[in-house]
Amino acid sequence: MSAREIEEHAGYVRDTAKLEAYERALAEVVRPGDSVLDLGSGTGVLGLLAARAGARIVYAVDSGSIIGVAADIAARNDLDQRIVHIRETSSRLRLPEPVDVVVCDQIGGAVYDAGVLDYFDDARRRLLRPEAVLVPGSFRLLAAPVSAGLWHEIVEVWSTRPAGFDMEAMAELAVNTEYRPRLGAEHFLGQPAEWGSIPSDHVEPVTGSARLTIERPGVLNGIAGMFIAQLSPSVELTNCPLLPHSFDRWQNFYPLPEAVEVAEGDSVEVRFDIRPKSYLATWTVGVHRRCRPDDPIHSRQSTVLGKLLTPDDIAAADGSAVPRLTPLVEADRFILGLVDGVRTERSIVEQTWTEHGSLFCSRQEVESRVRNLTARHARSVPPWPTSPTA
Ligand SMILES: C[S@@+](CC[C@H](N)C(=O)[O-])C[C@H]1O[C@@H](n2cnc3c(N)ncnc32)[C@H](O)[C@@H]1O
Repeated sequence: MSAREIEEHAGYVRDTAKLEAYERALAEVVRPGDSVLDLGSGTGVLGLLAARAGARIVYAVDSGSIIGVAADIAARNDLDQRIVHIRETSSRLRLPEPVDVVVCDQIGGAVYDAGVLDYFDDARRRLLRPEAVLVPGSFRLLAAPVSAGLWHEIVEVWSTRPAGFDMEAMAELAVNTEYRPRLGAEHFLGQPAEWGSIPSDHVEPVTGSARLTIERPGVLNGIAGMFIAQLSPSVELTNCPLLPHSFDRWQNFYPLPEAVEVAEGDSVEVRFDIRPKSYLATWTVGVHRRCRPDDPIHSRQSTVLGKLLTPDDIAAADGSAVPRLTPLVEADRFILGLVDGVRTERSIVEQTWTEHGSLFCSRQEVESRVRNLTARHARSVPPWPTSPTA
């Protein structure tokens, strides 16, 4: 395990606000005798809380080698009889029974960007009882106007001619990328507003908008994306530092292309379009300043442009892509289709050269492709010698 991973997991268990919230939520939803799936268990701490809340059995699942440490930790706490540790990626996971509760904290800064929606959607279809409880069960999606120092470091820098060179080409990518700073109260120019809410197994596109009010003057350079997770009927957890029940988690920062000076009472219209399956976000922002009522400033950014994705990449990520064979594989299919136990290699080469010759540089290339394919996938029978005539 790397130093970075150890630091990361230390951060998760140092976060008492998170652990207390999950402990209260699990105590609320786990009934004696329940089976619980701890998805992305890491050190297994959420599974330990579920066992302590009375679970009959916990399946702690992680794709990383940390699962071995999680097993040691369970044993040291005399809970290894009730926790089964499985090293597996969630999408390949099989369980001996459908479970009553699933718990996960792979929530990222704005929910769609870490995996929980996808993992829960998959678990719902394959691993849970129909009436199973998901922890968290739903999310409210928040946006707030912010002035982040990070903006100067990652957006403005490209216009400063580093070492005398024009590096504007990076600016386009930089403003179409979401970032993960840790924002404090001092960065917020106004309170957060809710722009949408979704169940925690929602993988379809989500769109929504909110009107944000500027409450103190400053230089607006981005929008913070955050969430309130409903862990159980009475327990909430948020990564918005302005709200109660906040825990130690970054916020997503969606930059504006230009920083805008704003004053108290100005307003910001923000619209998000999120594609959870492909981890893509588009943010449309309109800044309405009271000093220039006829001159709102509009911008529209998207991680589609920041990630240098092609439309094919995007379609592939949400499963709507239509796979097509490459021309050479088409030719292979054609060749294998001619292997019928009757045709000779020579006639297969002949026909392939006639039909698909344009794909090859020479007839020799067709011959060697046919030979390779038949050697791998077919048995070549030498022709029977013709019997000598008496
Ligand atoms: C945010 S950490 C959470 C750790 C733990 N739940 C905690 O509270 O300390 C996420 C963990 O999920 C694991 N993980 C991420 N994606 C996974 C997947 N698709 N299947 C299984 N484990 C996954 C990672 O290896 C990592 O240990």
